[in-house]
Amino acid sequence: MHLREVTDDNREAVRALRVRRDQKQFVASVSKSLKQAARHPEANPWYRAVYVGDEPVGFVMLSWKPPAGPYKGRHFIWRLLVDKRHQRRGIGRETLTQIAALVRADGATELLTSYDPGEGEPWPFYEKFGFEPTGEIDDGEVVLRLVFPSR
Ligand SMILES: CC(C)(COP(=O)(O)OP(=O)(O)OC[C@H]1O[C@@H](n2cnc3c(N)ncnc32)[C@H](O)[C@@H]1OP(=O)(O)O)[C@@H](O)C(=O)NCCC(=O)NCCS
Repeated sequence: MHLREVTDDNREAVRALRVRRDQKQFVASVSKSLKQAARHPEANPWYRAVYVGDEPVGFVMLSWKPPAGPYKGRHFIWRLLVDKRHQRRGIGRETLTQIAALVRADGATELLTSYDPGEGEPWPFYEKFGFEPTGEIDDGEVVLRLVFPSR
């Protein structure tokens, strides 16, 4: 599994990734995410397609050390999805592992995300990885943090 930039060559294939119908309440589509990224440069969006071999199977987008706002100077997973045909095979976990390594290499001491609570929510997925609630609720979403051990 590896991360690849989204370019003219693979954008359509990445935009075609889909979660299950009952998961749509938890995550916006790739198309919407790319539009949001273009509309919000101040959030410092950083995104990659998740590949297994030559096949796109997922998408991840961070707000990478935005210069202002509630996540100023921090690393926040803004979007994460694995296509419905490829879920529960460890791809989401491996994506978190690679993202954690990248942000740590950038000097991060923690990685943040948030989720919308509801039936089928991704909390068990994040909890297994070591995320914990910060106690904050941001626009109805539960804010989570993964703290990196000091080196
Ligand atoms: C959440 C998501 C990214 C997980 O990706 P994935 O590739 O299916 O996850 P993995 O196979 O790496 O799972 C890792 C562990 O989390 C568990 N897990 C994954 N999704 C879970 C869920 N929704 N509920 C409970 N456990 C879950 C897996 O069973 C596995 O645990 P195990 O090793 O003990 O069996 C994927 O299901 C998805 O795209 N969901 C819809 C969008 C979404 O909710 N994104 C998060 C937005 S905040």
